[in-house]
Amino acid sequence: MTMMTQKNILILFIFSLSFLFMGCSQTTKKNDNTLKSVVSVESNAQEDCNWCGTSEAPENVTWKTVISPKEEPGERIIISGTIYRPDGKTPAKDIIVYVYHTNIKGVYPKKGDESGNGKYHGYLRGWMKTDARGKYEFETIRPAPYQTHGGEPAHIHFNIEGPKYPEYWLTALWFQDDSRVTDEYKKSVKRSGGFSNVTTLTKDENNLSRGERNIILERFE
Ligand SMILES: [Fe+2]
Repeated sequence: MTMMTQKNILILFIFSLSFLFMGCSQTTKKNDNTLKSVVSVESNAQEDCNWCGTSEAPENVTWKTVISPKEEPGERIIISGTIYRPDGKTPAKDIIVYVYHTNIKGVYPKKGDESGNGKYHGYLRGWMKTDARGKYEFETIRPAPYQTHGGEPAHIHFNIEGPKYPEYWLTALWFQDDSRVTDEYKKSVKRSGGFSNVTTLTKDENNLSRGERNIILERFE
């Protein structure tokens, strides 16, 4: 084996490992064959879409959900918002919102009994279906940023699907008080959802931290 071949194999190995640790960063938001081959060995995740999840919504999905178990450590937060039609004014009902995020250690935690893409999105995930007001809301814990690849803000992933809107991803939700939310990161936002993807948490009358993210429906091929 030549030195060149050895070097190529090493590069390929490091490249493959990087996909394993990236988990779900925006750069993997494609039907990537490399990742597919990595995850399909041990999971029943959707074979051709590692970032998807709306199709796994439970039948009884409603506009509101609680994601993290009560015993999950971390600051409890409530995120809510309205999804609008492309005119930016008319509420869009029956839109599925799928969200998932890391725990306070910056990892997507698993219990071992996850199914579908939960096998690598972890158990801190949930689904909502907007009501006639276009509203959705979820309660969970505030995620921590990744420990393995520094710099990226703590985030909550958002996928959207509705009639005439095949599932698509938005740039994840970030938190205004996160020092990693720099101007450079803000400039990198590709799919904000029509409004800012950065939320400011404020305490409500029950001392719960609440944030908002409104979204305008878009179509992505
Ligand atoms: Fe992520």
